[in-house]
Amino acid sequence: MKHQVTLNINGSEHEIFVEARKTLADAIREECGLTGTHLGCEHGVCGACTVLMDGQPVRSCLMFAVQCNGVPLRTVEGLADGDDLHPVQKAFWEHHGLQCGFCTPGFLMLATSVLEQEPDIDDEALREVLSSNLCRCTGYQNILIAVKAAAEEMRG
Ligand code: FES
Ligand code: FES
Repeated sequence: MKHQVTLNINGSEHEIFVEARKTLADAIREECGLTGTHLGCEHGVCGACTVLMDGQPVRSCLMFAVQCNGVPLRTVEGLADGDDLHPVQKAFWEHHGLQCGFCTPGFLMLATSVLEQEPDIDDEALREVLSSNLCRCTGYQNILIAVKAAAEEMRG
């Protein structure tokens, strides 16, 4: 049986019909065509699938689409404003915060959420937050440098 769900992603409404078992990640990618949200482990460990739900980071592989009816969602596609990159994206670009890029959408969304809520976050707390996501290329130092640079820009 399929359910009608309206996913509000980056300010646009997507009306979809999905089974109750359809994950939010699959719905975003397959039903809404937004493939910037990546799937790694598909069981809540890697954070590649992180999106923002009402401003809070969630692992979209652990949510069902039917749980997100009408809730404001943000994905990596919503970060840039046309050709203007979000400060976090710009900082990843400038400080080489990515290698293969597979984990990047998840890190960008996680970092955006934390810096929007707590732009003055200290280094230790930032490390703690970022430790929830995994990078198989192990570029953690540059990710940290990039997020700290973005924080400075967003504070300014
Ligand atoms: S794909 Fe969701 S946490 Fe890894
Ligand atoms: S940049 Fe390759 S997994 Fe993180």
